[in-house]
Amino acid sequence: MAQRETPARPPGPRGHWLTGNTRAYEADRIGFLRRCHRAYGDVFSYDEQTVFVIDPDLTHDVLARTGHSFVTELAPFDMRRDLDEATTQATAWMSARRATWPGLNLAAAAASDDRTVEILDAVTADGASREVDVLTTMRAFTARAIAEYCFGADADGVPGLLHELIRATQPFTESSYEFPAWLPIPRHRHFFRASRRLTDALTGIVRKRRAPDAGEPGGDLLGFLLTADPAMPDETVTSTLHSILMGGHGVPAAALTSVVWELARRPRLAGDLRDEANGAASGDDLPSDPVPAARLPLAEAVVRETLRLYPPAWLMTRTARTATTLGDWSVGPGDDVLLNAYLIHRDPRWWQRPDEFDPARWLSGRPAPGPAYLPFGAGPRVCLGSALAMRQLTLATSRLAQHVAVESPNASSVALEFMGRLAPAGLRARFPPRRK
Ligand code: HEM
Repeated sequence: MAQRETPARPPGPRGHWLTGNTRAYEADRIGFLRRCHRAYGDVFSYDEQTVFVIDPDLTHDVLARTGHSFVTELAPFDMRRDLDEATTQATAWMSARRATWPGLNLAAAAASDDRTVEILDAVTADGASREVDVLTTMRAFTARAIAEYCFGADADGVPGLLHELIRATQPFTESSYEFPAWLPIPRHRHFFRASRRLTDALTGIVRKRRAPDAGEPGGDLLGFLLTADPAMPDETVTSTLHSILMGGHGVPAAALTSVVWELARRPRLAGDLRDEANGAASGDDLPSDPVPAARLPLAEAVVRETLRLYPPAWLMTRTARTATTLGDWSVGPGDDVLLNAYLIHRDPRWWQRPDEFDPARWLSGRPAPGPAYLPFGAGPRVCLGSALAMRQLTLATSRLAQHVAVESPNASSVALEFMGRLAPAGLRARFPPRRK
């Protein structure tokens, strides 16, 4: 291709003169993006301010430049697009992030194995004799699991507040239309109220633990943050835990819903997972003991493959802070760049039989096509909870297969919903216990 002298904006569909591409996108989000990908290639413009990227290397390039040329997603209704303010907040967050990382690593995550399984058992027991909405059930599990990981015995009340905040966030993720934050419309009021209630509750727990008569800091993530060196101000501890609770709740629940979807449609796979769990239990374990996640390679492969086919964070957003380039193309300050993990994960250029659910591809010993697999993102803002998430999801997948039958009346008819967090929409199931 001839070298262009000045980088140009990427091509893209012109859309309707008034509504642009919004209606076509809203009618079938992934169908629209596939059509654009076929017509315009790996980088295309959606409108004057939005560019989609479906190239793995360019995606990594953008993610790696977060903090310099790009900032992370702004609040859904933040139309002022204050890029300097976003950059200042990001700098503060990066130092809190570094301090928090060891509290979420593999060794720290392993300490929560027993509780993870107890919480899952309790939540699925609700679906033992009646049909439940799977996403709601999995949210109940992940909300309780992450709340206890952060606050141990002080977690009561937090899962309810998380549900409320997720509900309040939903209208923003379901629509591409934005309204300025100052508009006192119900969705904004609901969101601010729910967010404040969660912050108030977290502030209360942090203060209680910081009080002179509070005793030992505790073995949970809050205890870890309270003993950080250098010390973290209470406000930073609270906002860090707020981010972890939000990141560690809705996204893993969506992933587990997709795991349940696969288990419901694949009784043979569920049987293999059961064999693995039974074989991995050591002679000293009680039948109710959870099997250490490290002894569950098939369960881990099922999780990896689920995250490939159904990445809950199917779109990641970055906003250009300055005029910059995307490979051969240019974007301007304030432009949004949307990175599409879903289409990269299903691209035949990087994956054999890309649409086939095949956990064995993770067991062959061959390395995965590195840049083309990014369920946890990449770069300086890669998922902070990826080690904990892999561990919890692996254990949960194994436990579900071992302890319950997954009976779904609609697993063969539901479809993926490309909104907010990717998951099969409206999946229902019963979880009757398996006879020992
Ligand atoms: C299946 C499970 C999970 C998946 C697929 C996932 C995926 C992701 C992705 C893709 C990002 C980066 C988003 C971006 O770059 O725009 C992210 C960020 C984040 N995740 Fe996760 N996540 C999962 C579980 C968790 C858990 C369990 C926690 C909490 C312990 C967590 C906490 C976070 C936080 C705090 C961030 C923001 C990091 C930052 O901006 O610096 N995630 N996650």
